[in-house]
Amino acid sequence: MIHSKEIRKQFLDFFKGKGHTIVPSSSVVPYEDPTLLFTNAGMNQFKDVFLEIGSREYKRAADTQKCIRAGGKHNDLEEVGIDGYHHTFFEMLGNWSFGDYYKKEAIGWAWELLTKVWKLPKDKLWATVYKSDDEAFELWKTETDIDHSHILRFGEKDNFWEMGETGPCGPCSEVHVDLTENGCKPEDVNAGLEDVIEIWNLVFIQYNRDEKGVLHPLPNKHVDTGMGFERIVRVLNNAKSNYDTDIFQTIISDISKITGKEYKGENISPFNAIADHIRALTFAICDGAMPSNEGRGYVLRRILRRASRLARKINYTEPLLFRLVDSVVNNFRDIFPELTEKQEFIKNVIKSEEESFNLTLDRGLEHFYEVYDTIKNNKEKIFPGEDAFKLYDTYGFPLDLTQVIVREHGFEVDLKKFDEEMTKQKERARAARKDDIVMASTKVFELDEKIKKQNPEYNPYELKKEGVKTRLLKLDKIANSDIEVLILKDNPFYSEAGGQVSDTGKLLFDDGYELDVIDSQNNYYVYAKNIDRKAIFHKDVTAKVDYKRRRAIQRNHSATHLLHEALRQVLGSHVKQMGSLVTNDYLRFDFPHFKKLEAEQIIAIEDLVNGKIQEALQVQTLADISIEEANRIPNVKKFFGEKYGSKVRVVTMDEKFSIEFCGGTHVDNTSDIGLFKIIKEESISSGVRRIFAKTGEGILELLEENVGKIELIISDLPEKIAKNFLIATNEIRSGIREADFKDISFIKLMLQHQENMIKSLNEVREKYIEEKKQLEKKMLKQNLGKIFEKMDEMINNSPVHNGHRIAAFKFDIGSTDEFKEIGDKLREKILDGIGLIASVINGKINLVCSVSDNLIKEKNMSAGKLISTVAKELGGGGGGRPQLATAGGKDIEKIDSVLEKFVNDIKTTL
Ligand code: ALA
Repeated sequence: MIHSKEIRKQFLDFFKGKGHTIVPSSSVVPYEDPTLLFTNAGMNQFKDVFLEIGSREYKRAADTQKCIRAGGKHNDLEEVGIDGYHHTFFEMLGNWSFGDYYKKEAIGWAWELLTKVWKLPKDKLWATVYKSDDEAFELWKTETDIDHSHILRFGEKDNFWEMGETGPCGPCSEVHVDLTENGCKPEDVNAGLEDVIEIWNLVFIQYNRDEKGVLHPLPNKHVDTGMGFERIVRVLNNAKSNYDTDIFQTIISDISKITGKEYKGENISPFNAIADHIRALTFAICDGAMPSNEGRGYVLRRILRRASRLARKINYTEPLLFRLVDSVVNNFRDIFPELTEKQEFIKNVIKSEEESFNLTLDRGLEHFYEVYDTIKNNKEKIFPGEDAFKLYDTYGFPLDLTQVIVREHGFEVDLKKFDEEMTKQKERARAARKDDIVMASTKVFELDEKIKKQNPEYNPYELKKEGVKTRLLKLDKIANSDIEVLILKDNPFYSEAGGQVSDTGKLLFDDGYELDVIDSQNNYYVYAKNIDRKAIFHKDVTAKVDYKRRRAIQRNHSATHLLHEALRQVLGSHVKQMGSLVTNDYLRFDFPHFKKLEAEQIIAIEDLVNGKIQEALQVQTLADISIEEANRIPNVKKFFGEKYGSKVRVVTMDEKFSIEFCGGTHVDNTSDIGLFKIIKEESISSGVRRIFAKTGEGILELLEENVGKIELIISDLPEKIAKNFLIATNEIRSGIREADFKDISFIKLMLQHQENMIKSLNEVREKYIEEKKQLEKKMLKQNLGKIFEKMDEMINNSPVHNGHRIAAFKFDIGSTDEFKEIGDKLREKILDGIGLIASVINGKINLVCSVSDNLIKEKNMSAGKLISTVAKELGGGGGGRPQLATAGGKDIEKIDSVLEKFVNDIKTTL
């Protein structure tokens, strides 16, 4: 047996020997390429070199690349677990030439490695070339000693390789290996057979395909090869499938250990697929992807949910996947050291995702089987789309998971109906959203050719207090709304992007007409409401951004960058921006992390940010640099999910601390930010935390709010104590009004002072409230003593009829608390008879009625029933148990007559 580590090394050493630079794998989550969900080939990281918009110091390179093919153009998800050689995650060994060697060397070296180094039998190898690539066809004959009848021609599908819908591409030549015992035939190649598989693809990159599908020749010719690592390991070990190699066997034996199930028979396929899926999940999460409901995150969620359900197929119901992470990390940490650093984090993400799906998985399966039982005999073998949707919507089953299960039972999902249900739901969601008008409008108003010719400019970056003089190019009404959209020659209003909210401000027309700008979108569209078109005579206008508001936004945006790095330094490198909101009032920042932040961590983060503010760092912006150039800046931060154009802006605050891709607007110097303060930290979904923070004038507002809080606490205190504090709060208020938010030490002191004050006042208040409660209790006790004495007297004075006491009377009681206590006393006192007390408290009648046990038993009487009649007569209602019941009423003037009637009625009953 040759260990996979050895094979990987032999590949890299071979190409090192041929003058190749060995480079690290790029992240499996591609940052700068919006056309890709996941890295799907070794060449992805060199796309810019092929397109000749970027370059490297070397002309030859080789590596092993982490790839995921589970969505987009290259998607192998459906094959996983069914065959033994397709994977969601796999390593691609590759060698590249950037305008250097070409077909001759690529073919010659491939043959040399396979037959001389690895000594694969030549008669078991087959080569394919693109149908019209005579050059490659000939080179196989001249550069190798392959059996000439083993060189085959194929069409586009098999021998023209493309990275995606667009991008670098070209004809390719593949090497296939025949693992059958008796030798295969030419028609077995590319036929999808388990024993005749492609192992290496040599692509001769010559073209770039554009959005319209047109091929453009590239200035230079390049080589891009890719060999399936798991496949070559299988081949060199003579294994039955990729899963029968050390790459997967350690994981598989861990699945066995944890579940107690054997890897045999029906279990083999689910074991294999789980082993595959856990690798994809571990590597993707390690590189920054997170399970979610869209895009890349949804691919992960789908993989994870499939794996959870596969665990059910081997009758295992506990969370399993997270327990396999260690296995993956231990296996691959030598070659991908980043795994070790993120090990705990990955486990936590998978665990919480698994646990949450486990809550609905079994009920979903139950629902599936209920439906299945009723449709089993269905001739058309259709599984209702409504139920597939219910599984999706209620039980979290991704459609493809439902399809897998449905197919296992010989059915197909009614996709049309499913889509209909999905559309209906989207419409419901849309109807529920309020901010639709402005959003929709951006679609309606594409820049038309006429406007484009006038070169409208978007420049929110130079903020001018006095505004910019410009011209109105277009004014359009948005249907069914009082909002209109304007296009200016120069737009200084920042358009909502990257979490930073849009600017607002004013348009001052030269003829004196004034408009409030309420929004700006897509760089060119400015929005205003209720425009009096007749008042606009002039197109010349001064566009004035709300200066104070914008400055506050800038402070929060710059602070967001500092916070981002501070979080990484305090909590760890797994912290990445998942979302942010930058407004004038506050900033909000979402990031993956599993624990609530401790008080000390929050302080450490604040101190780091405030330290950078006090260093008074100049904020530097590189505007409009190419994405390739920007990517080369060490430690530059970019975000998942963001789509960057070919030009980006890079904002730097101390190049050792914070460098980010960012289209937002910033302060000139960090000292402009003022104090930074975290005001709230919470969890928004499992494994994702959210921080709210304030800066600058926002802190002054916070100080004011704190005074409000202090006053509220004081209002609960007795006047004698409160008086002194009120003098203090008035002083604090005027102090805040005069404070300069940049005077960080003073502001900090003030904040600290307030926090202490709130804390100690709260203590005072609690103590005071407690004392008051105790006092009230004491009073109640004293009062009750007197009340009970009086009650005794009243009861003793009431009539006795046929041996039963009938005590119905009005009684003066000060509070409902006291009233609550008298019911039990009433029952205790009247051991044979009926009691009814009416008390007027705060203008309302309170009633309580008791019936002794003997009357309940012998005369079938009930306090609940009796009191309900009485309460009705008094304009109220109520009831309760036969022993004791309470009720209320409002007709106070009727009390005497109702009580009198009550006594008479009872007398006739008894
Ligand atoms: N880029 C080529 C492939 O992925 C080598 O097959």
